[in-house]
Amino acid sequence: MTEIRTPRLLLRRWSDDDLVPLSEINADPEVMRWIGDGSVRDLDETAGDIERYEEEWDEEGFGLFAVELLASGELIGFAGLSVPEYLPEAAHEIEIGWRLGRQFWGQGYASEAAHAVLEWALQDRGLDRVVAVTHLSDAASENVVAKLGMEAERELDHPVFGVPLRVHAIDLTEYQA
Ligand SMILES: CC(C)(COP(=O)(O)OP(=O)(O)OC[C@H]1O[C@@H](n2cnc3c(N)ncnc32)[C@H](O)[C@@H]1OP(=O)(O)O)[C@@H](O)C(=O)NCCC(=O)NCCS
Repeated sequence: MTEIRTPRLLLRRWSDDDLVPLSEINADPEVMRWIGDGSVRDLDETAGDIERYEEEWDEEGFGLFAVELLASGELIGFAGLSVPEYLPEAAHEIEIGWRLGRQFWGQGYASEAAHAVLEWALQDRGLDRVVAVTHLSDAASENVVAKLGMEAERELDHPVFGVPLRVHAIDLTEYQA
């Protein structure tokens, strides 16, 4: 089973105990502000999400990791890889993404998890390119993307919600661990 340990975090597959803490994260409008149309997600929707994350792991051999604080065992959110099916023009790409509960922002956890995911994707999982898709106003994600060394490639509107998005990318040849 794929797990990654960083100095402060454990990135792992999903368990039933993650449903309530992830649904609390998904119920926070500040967390969801720059995702899709900004809607929050309830417990049932979150249960469906976790099911899909696990299916992606089984089918693709990659997915979104549950991110746990090593010190306390708390679930603080997720970071990992997914196919951006919501964006047909990028549906052949593999996207790195992240979402943390608000009380866990501003402590470097997102970058710590994202660095570990990118290293795993390019060096262990054998991918040769990873993209990140951000809302143009999502400064916190743009900051994470910049720290990963990803370059902005193009801007486009979300095909369903019409919100402005930016696609960033990094190729294996440009990657410096
Ligand atoms: C996007 C998101 C994950 C970013 O979280 P974050 O906590 O701001 O990200 P980081 O891990 O980069 O940490 C930010 C700051 O923590 C601070 N920090 C505190 N302690 C730190 C430490 N030990 N190590 C590193 N940074 C630390 C740093 O100042 C850093 O900012 P800087 O890079 O400007 O110096 C978070 O805002 C979020 O979950 N948003 C909602 C979901 C979302 O929008 N997802 C993206 C959809 S594309």
